[in-house]
Amino acid sequence: MIRFEHVTKRYAERGDALRDVSFTLEPGEMAFLTGHSGAGKSTLLRLIGLLERPTRGRLSVAGQDLGALGRRQIPLHRRRVGMIFQDHRLLPDRNVFDNVSLPLLAAGMHPRELGKRVRAALDQVGLLRLEHALPTSLSSGEQQRVGIARAVVARPPVILADEPTAPLDSTRAMAVVRILNDMAAQFQTAIIVVTHDEKIIPTFKRIYHIRDGVTHEEAGEGRSVGG
Ligand SMILES: Nc1ncnc2c1ncn2[C@@H]1O[C@H](COP(=O)(O)OP(=O)(O)OP(=O)(O)O)[C@@H](O)[C@H]1O
Ligand SMILES: [Mg+2]
Repeated sequence: MIRFEHVTKRYAERGDALRDVSFTLEPGEMAFLTGHSGAGKSTLLRLIGLLERPTRGRLSVAGQDLGALGRRQIPLHRRRVGMIFQDHRLLPDRNVFDNVSLPLLAAGMHPRELGKRVRAALDQVGLLRLEHALPTSLSSGEQQRVGIARAVVARPPVILADEPTAPLDSTRAMAVVRILNDMAAQFQTAIIVVTHDEKIIPTFKRIYHIRDGVTHEEAGEGRSVGG
């Protein structure tokens, strides 16, 4: 579902953020990506979401070479990728319901079906009662959970999560891991989770570590999270 072949990303004045990265993630697989601050983790996710372009190498998602995508195909690609950002990125002047409904509106879903799907996603993250609230009135953990609902609501084939559980307590953090696990199992979603969070690390089977812009694979314990 996701394939990196010798991908390098260089920022002009700061050198290589990623160097010669190669790996493959199959549909239904969930991988965990760790590495020190500035190692290139968010950069790797941004390349998959086409928020950045590689300097060298080849990157494909769902069999599509991203380098070959024309400008008009980019919005379609972005719809295939649900992103959970480190800094939430909610629309501040839209309420929780509207924020979560955006990917479904982009996909042209009928309003009745859309309402059901948005409420189901909000229920999954425990925020149904806050559907009319504005993001600015929410705690950081609540905003993060809105971002998670928005990323999963359209059931995209790829989900990228950048520190999704950092502001959450361990019960909420494990609930988020369970939601992502269920997505992978039920819809064959390929998922990459960037995290330093010791609460959730032992639950992953595949662990990638970025050191000096290079990925190294480690075998995780893959402990079951139940559910
Ligand atoms: N837009 C940019 N322009 C120039 N340099 C950048 C840009 N974005 C990231 N970098 C640099 O690339 C490197 C990797 O950054 P990145 O944000 O991917 O790190 P990270 O692993 O996500 O770190 P953190 O754990 O702190 O979030 C850093 O040295 C950063 O300064
Ligand atoms: Mg980052």
